[in-house]
Amino acid sequence: MQQQKVRRGANCGTGPDARETLDSRKGILLDDLDRMPFEEASPQAEPDGHAAAPAAKRVFIKTFGCQMNVYDSERMSEMLAAEGYVETDAPDEADLAILNTCHIREKAAEKVYSDLGRLRDIKSARAEGGKETLITVAGCVAQAEGEEIVRRAPAVDLVLGSQSYHRLPELLSRLRGGETALVETAFPDEDKFQALPERASAKAVTAFLTVQEGCDKFCTFCVVPYTRGMEYSRPVAALVDEARRLVQRGVRDITLLGQNVNGYHGEGPDGAPTTLAGLIGQLAGIEGLLRIRYTTSHPRDMSEALIEAHAREDKLMPYLHLPFQAGADRVLAAMNRKHTAADYLALIARIRRARPDIALSTDIIVGFPGESDADFEATLALVREAEFAHAFSFKYSPRPGTPAATMDGQVPEEVKRERLERLQEVIDAGYRRFNGACVGKRLPVLFEKAGRHAGQLVGRSPYLQLVHADADPALIGRVIDVEIRAAGANSLSGAICGQS
Ligand code: SAH
Ligand code: SF4
Ligand code: F3S
Repeated sequence: MQQQKVRRGANCGTGPDARETLDSRKGILLDDLDRMPFEEASPQAEPDGHAAAPAAKRVFIKTFGCQMNVYDSERMSEMLAAEGYVETDAPDEADLAILNTCHIREKAAEKVYSDLGRLRDIKSARAEGGKETLITVAGCVAQAEGEEIVRRAPAVDLVLGSQSYHRLPELLSRLRGGETALVETAFPDEDKFQALPERASAKAVTAFLTVQEGCDKFCTFCVVPYTRGMEYSRPVAALVDEARRLVQRGVRDITLLGQNVNGYHGEGPDGAPTTLAGLIGQLAGIEGLLRIRYTTSHPRDMSEALIEAHAREDKLMPYLHLPFQAGADRVLAAMNRKHTAADYLALIARIRRARPDIALSTDIIVGFPGESDADFEATLALVREAEFAHAFSFKYSPRPGTPAATMDGQVPEEVKRERLERLQEVIDAGYRRFNGACVGKRLPVLFEKAGRHAGQLVGRSPYLQLVHADADPALIGRVIDVEIRAAGANSLSGAICGQS
C-alpha cells in the first residue's frame, strides 16, 4: 500500500493522511489514491492481447480500499469471465467499467466521484461511436450511499452493494433489457460466497481468501459495520475447498481475510463453530500450501488458542496486524475499542512469549474527537514501547452516520496534520530499525515474480518484507534462504544461499 502499486487490483499510494509502506497484505487499507492517476494502467488487467477474441466484451475494474475489495474484484472478474468479458486496463475500451469502492475515509469516498466524472466523459465519447458503456459502482461507497450515487452521478447504471456482487450477471442482463439506474444494496439472505462460481483465475503465488466478513464491534469512528454488515464466517469445508483449488493453481501463500478475522467462528466439519486457530490447523494440512497469514485482528478476539498457533504451526507466518488505534485510555473508551493501552501491551507481550520473532503491525488514528496533546503523547509512547515492525497511521475522518462524527471536540485539521507527521517519524524509525536488524540474517523467502532488474526475483520474508535477489525464475513459487545484505526504504535485498 504505498510507494508502489500492489498486486492485482489494488490502487494505493501514500496520501497526506495515510502512510502505508509495503503492500496490501501489510495491513488493510489501500486508499488515498493520489499516486495512481485514473489514467494509469489498472494493475487489475492482464497483459493485453492473448486472451481476447476480437468480439469479447471488455471490463475495466478499479479497486479502492482494503484487501477484501481486492478479493471481491477478483471474484467479480471471474464471474464476468464466465460471461465472456476480458479485463482491460483502458477505461475508454471498456464495455463495462466497475469502480469497487471504499468508504472508510472521506477522501477515499470522494475520489470515486472524480473518477465517475471521467467515466461519464468516456461514456459519452464512446456513445458517439455507437458503443455502449455500462458504469457500475460496487463496494462500500455503493453500500453506504446507494441511490445518492445515481443522484450525484446520473451516468451510473448500477450501484452494487458489497453483499450483492454475486448478482452482477443478472443485473447486467436487466440493464441490457432496458432497465436503468439499478440500485442493489440489500443484505440478501442467500450466501453470496456459495452463489459465486469456482475460483478460476489464480495465477499468482499469493492469494487472498475471505473467511469472515462484517464487524459487530462498532468502533465509533468506523463505517465498516454499516457497509459490510454483521459478522459472518464462512464454513470450514468451503474454505478448505477454495484453498485447495488455489493451491492446485500454484498459490503457495494464502492470506485469510476478515474485517475481524480473529473473531472467525465458521461451521466446522462436525457442525460446531470452529475458531480461527482451528481453521488454520485445517488449512495447514493442505499439501503444497507453504504459508498462511491472516488480517485484520481485533485485540479483544486474540484467543490463547490463536496465540498458541503462532508457537506451534510452522506454516503460520510470524506476522500479525493488530490495530490499537490510540494510546490514551479515555480516547480508546470514546472509540468503543473495549481495551486499554495496558491490555494491548500485555497482549503483545503474551504473543511475543509464544513467538519471540513475531513482527507486529498496527493501525493508529490521530485527532479523534477530544484527543488532547497529552492523549496524543500517550499514542507516541505506546508506539515506542510496542516496537512495531510497521504501522499505518491516519488522520481521523468524520464519517456520516458514525457516532464520533457528531462528538464534541473535533480536532482542527492543522493539529491532525502535525500529529500525523510526528507519529510517522516515530513509526518510520521503528520500521528502519526492524528492517536494518535483518541485515546479515538468513531469511526464507517465497519468491513471487520477476523483479524490475534483469535476473532479479522478488519475494517475501516470513515478516512480509519485500526481498530482492538475483535468482533463477524457476524458483518462483519456492521458499529459498536469502542472506540479507541491505535494507532499503521499502524492501530488503540479498543473495541466495540455500534452498529449504
Ligand atoms: N478491523 C478492520 C479495520 C478496517 S478499517 C480491518 O479489517 O482492518 C482500517 C483502519 O482504518 C482502522 O483500523 C482505522 O485505523 C482506520 N479508520 C477507520 N475508520 C477511520 C476514520 N473514520 N478515520 C480515520 N481512520 C479510520
Ligand atoms: Fe471498524 Fe472497529 Fe470493526 Fe475494525 S473492529 S472494522 S475499526 S468497527
Ligand atoms: Fe474500505 Fe469497505 Fe474495506 S470501507 S476498508 S473497502 S471494508
